[in-house]
Amino acid sequence: MKIGIGGASAIVVGTLLGVAMLTMAGWEAPPIDTEQVGYRGLGMVHLTNPRTERRLQAANVAPDPVWPLEPAASFAPRADEVYENLQVLGHLPAEAHDRLMAAITEWVSPEEGCGYCHNLENLAEDSVYTKVVARDMLRMTLHINTEWQDHVQDTGVTCYTCHRGQNVPEEQWFLAQPQQRANMAGWNAGQNQPGIASASLPIDPFSRFLLDDQPIRVIGENALPPAEGPQIGTKATEYTYSLMNHMSESLGVNCTFCHNSRSFIGWEGSPPARMSAWHGIRMVRDINTAFMHPLGPEYPLDRLGPTGDAGKANCTTCHQGVNKPLYGASMLKDYPSLGPAGPLWEGEGPQAMLARPSAGGDD
Ligand code: HEC
Ligand code: HEC
Ligand code: HEC
Ligand code: HEC
Repeated sequence: MKIGIGGASAIVVGTLLGVAMLTMAGWEAPPIDTEQVGYRGLGMVHLTNPRTERRLQAANVAPDPVWPLEPAASFAPRADEVYENLQVLGHLPAEAHDRLMAAITEWVSPEEGCGYCHNLENLAEDSVYTKVVARDMLRMTLHINTEWQDHVQDTGVTCYTCHRGQNVPEEQWFLAQPQQRANMAGWNAGQNQPGIASASLPIDPFSRFLLDDQPIRVIGENALPPAEGPQIGTKATEYTYSLMNHMSESLGVNCTFCHNSRSFIGWEGSPPARMSAWHGIRMVRDINTAFMHPLGPEYPLDRLGPTGDAGKANCTTCHQGVNKPLYGASMLKDYPSLGPAGPLWEGEGPQAMLARPSAGGDD
């Protein structure tokens, strides 16, 4: 039998189509590095693709400090003796305040400069919305570093952890628009939408778990549905797996980074990362509820989501594909005024920083 040009190109096209489909389905070319982290044969293994790893390493480098050292508290005067309208940073030495202004400009608006947040004719004025937002972002950053050490440890976060030199962080989420069409199939929970890798799972686990406090469960605790309280059915299970997929993707790890394959539900034998993640879920819920969501009225319309809400954080906002943001490099040590080691003035004990209303974020 003779294969004509038509036949040959059909084979070529077929092969290319096959390769394209594999690639689209998340198939990765070998070699892949594997590391066994549990008993053999149980799938307790970490997989890394050296090419993806190289790309991530290049993309997750912490920048050098803007000025070498943060001035200690002995460097009087205090910022609130020099400036007029400080609601968060008044207790810093004036020089530390100025250094922080130079740093946040590098972290959030390197192209636009100080004018992104300030009316340059009058720096004390609050007429630009970005300044009002940035003030709450300062409160939030202090709050994360002082109240959520269970998650961020001494590594801590700065504006750069999320912003990476951009006005708007790479990853944020908004409340989804309610389903437009009403049909016999009913509410589709945002499932089976094209363009999302795990399209058969609900696309928005965030509003349930990272804003609202619904149970992250796949099996109810009792044989029969409870008389009151939330019921753990198929929907809760689907949303739970959707959140788990998000967590794996944002940290660039697979499920066994946090779970023991013997039992995904049981805590016994889970790797310690699961506990960090547990605190992480609660931290993200806290900052979304206390800071991000309430900022809605401050933003112009073009910054808001389809239902008019402000952008909010999920795990990817900080992690951006790696298990510790910026591979665990601590920028906080160069900016102690953003954390619990902030400056203390004469007569203040070590708890003063935590006790200051600005560190609590709820004044
Ligand atoms: C991302 C937003 C942002 C950028 C960029 C920024 N600032 Fe600020 N700036 C603020 C906020 C917020 C405050 C108020 C902090 C507070 O309430 O404690 C402030 C306060 C100040 C004040 C105190 C004014 C007063 O009298 O109350 C000065 C001075 C200042 N900034 C200078 C600068 C300079 C200089 C630059 C550029 C190198 C800069 N800022 C860049 C957000 C920003
Ligand atoms: C946990 C992640 C996170 C951290 C940390 C963080 N931000 Fe943000 N920031 C966000 C998100 C999400 C938004 C919402 C983006 C939007 O739609 O404007 C935002 C918005 C902003 C905006 C408004 C930008 C615009 O153009 O509308 C400013 C200004 C800002 N942040 C400044 C800061 C400063 C200054 C710090 C550090 C003191 C900081 N942020 C720390 C996540 C973060
Ligand atoms: C970064 C850590 C992390 C990763 C990665 C992760 N999980 Fe989880 N998982 C958790 C934590 C933490 C909980 C408990 C959540 C809570 O109770 O707030 C949990 C809970 C669960 C539960 C139990 C729900 C119940 O009924 O108690 C299942 C099932 C589960 N995960 C499956 C998975 C699967 C499948 C993957 C991979 C796609 C995965 N997880 C990836 C941390 C993780
Ligand atoms: C505000 C930024 C921020 C957000 C948002 C965030 N994390 Fe983290 N996370 C960190 C920092 C910083 C560390 C590093 C702490 C350290 O040095 O051990 C970390 C560490 C972790 C670790 C430990 C990794 C390891 O190798 O031991 C896990 C697991 C984790 N985060 C899971 C999550 C999950 C899941 C979410 C979303 C629910 C989340 N994080 C959201 C900042 C964040």
